[in-house]
Amino acid sequence: ISTQIAIIGGGPAGLLLSHLLRRSGIENVVLELRDREYTIERVRAGVLEQDAVNLLTDAGLGDRLHHEGQRHDGIYLQYNGSRHHVSFRELVGRSVWVYGQQEVVRDLIDAHDEAGTPARYSVSDIELDNVADGPATVRFTQDGEEFELTADFVAGADGAHGVCRPSIPAAEKTTYQREYPFGWLGILAHVQPSTDELIYALHERGFAMHSMRSDTVSRLYLQVDPHDDITNWSDDRIWDELDLRLGTMGWTLERGEIFDKSITPMRSFVSDPMRFGNLFLVGDSAHIVPPTGAKGLNLAIADASYLHDGMVAWYRNGDASGLDEYSPRSVKRVWQIQHFSAWMTRMLHRFEDSTDAENPENPDYDYQVQLGQLSQLCESPRGMSHLAEIYTGLPFLSHP
Ligand code: FAD
Ligand code: DHB
Repeated sequence: ISTQIAIIGGGPAGLLLSHLLRRSGIENVVLELRDREYTIERVRAGVLEQDAVNLLTDAGLGDRLHHEGQRHDGIYLQYNGSRHHVSFRELVGRSVWVYGQQEVVRDLIDAHDEAGTPARYSVSDIELDNVADGPATVRFTQDGEEFELTADFVAGADGAHGVCRPSIPAAEKTTYQREYPFGWLGILAHVQPSTDELIYALHERGFAMHSMRSDTVSRLYLQVDPHDDITNWSDDRIWDELDLRLGTMGWTLERGEIFDKSITPMRSFVSDPMRFGNLFLVGDSAHIVPPTGAKGLNLAIADASYLHDGMVAWYRNGDASGLDEYSPRSVKRVWQIQHFSAWMTRMLHRFEDSTDAENPENPDYDYQVQLGQLSQLCESPRGMSHLAEIYTGLPFLSHP
């Protein structure tokens, strides 16, 4: 088989890149390790930046998004038991959309089905050859049969644990990372959200967040030990802890049936550059951010958009500048968002249970600094504008 672009990984980054390329007349094949159901069912992110929504809409993927997605014009920040509104509309005139990553993936899969270009699922043993100077060869197994695919370029959209990044020689990349001493326990529950907009709360016992997926499904998170076992968390224990951490005067957290729960560790990671010869890394394969601020999916969408633009210039006009600019441009944005995600994470999580072992009732210094930071932020329109500007998304549209 031969194609113009081999895309490894059928998550949001790979499927979106494939969709954009197809619409621009560039042939491509998506190879996905898992089966189709698994990639649809996987529960992850839930917030889309304004420009990501514009891009998906322009790419013909906006129908369900505009019907079922919810526009949110702000968030709440909570600390010391009191809740403060950050109005994105008033501060920067922009919004975000609450629409699950699962739904984005489903819309992409539907669009691929409609065009008759579905991904190849349950593909294993992918091996890349000749990516340095191309054309590249991609060997893989599907249904017990071995295949060889030849492509001008390879897009590595295979997430944090894929095969593309490791196939770049160590001497050709620098990696940076930080692990956080906590993870997020996330739940989905059949209950109407108890809030109109997302609540990010710093509590003495740790971070908590109230998000949502629809009028009947709530998504909530708790900061927990990353090594904790989900079986230690009964539904009642989860709701009690959420009640404690999100509680504020005159407000009630409605409970409902929990139908999904898991614990995800948190880390930051960057691999630079995002290109090696004819191999381009896209999305989580090149970078991970801690989820506070909901940037992982949005970064993946921005990468796909940049790479698409570079490919179009190359195939239409033989102009390589977009491909040459892909990595520097993406990496710059990645570090800006690494900063935002780390800032939000540090501001809103407890870093120690209790630093003062002699006196466990005594809240520690770092926590008091965080409260000072949050009160300063919430009292300053300029501070809140900074948060609103980046939360709603750094601009990334550069479409002709
Ligand atoms: P992925 O979604 O990881 O897709 C990569 C695809 O490649 C997968 O389908 C995988 O099966 C496939 N693949 C892997 N290895 C191979 C291989 N060898 N061959 C072929 N295919 C392969 N972000 C937020 O903003 N908010 C959140 O709440 C949030 N929660 C998250 C929870 C979890 C458990 C995880 C892992 C991530 C979460 N993220 C969150 C991050 C966000 O979901 C990612 O940034 C986003 O999925 C990136 O998309 P991607 O397509 O680059 O990678
Ligand atoms: C969600 C996830 C996030 O990381 C975040 O900052 C906001 C919302 C969510 O899954 O809904």
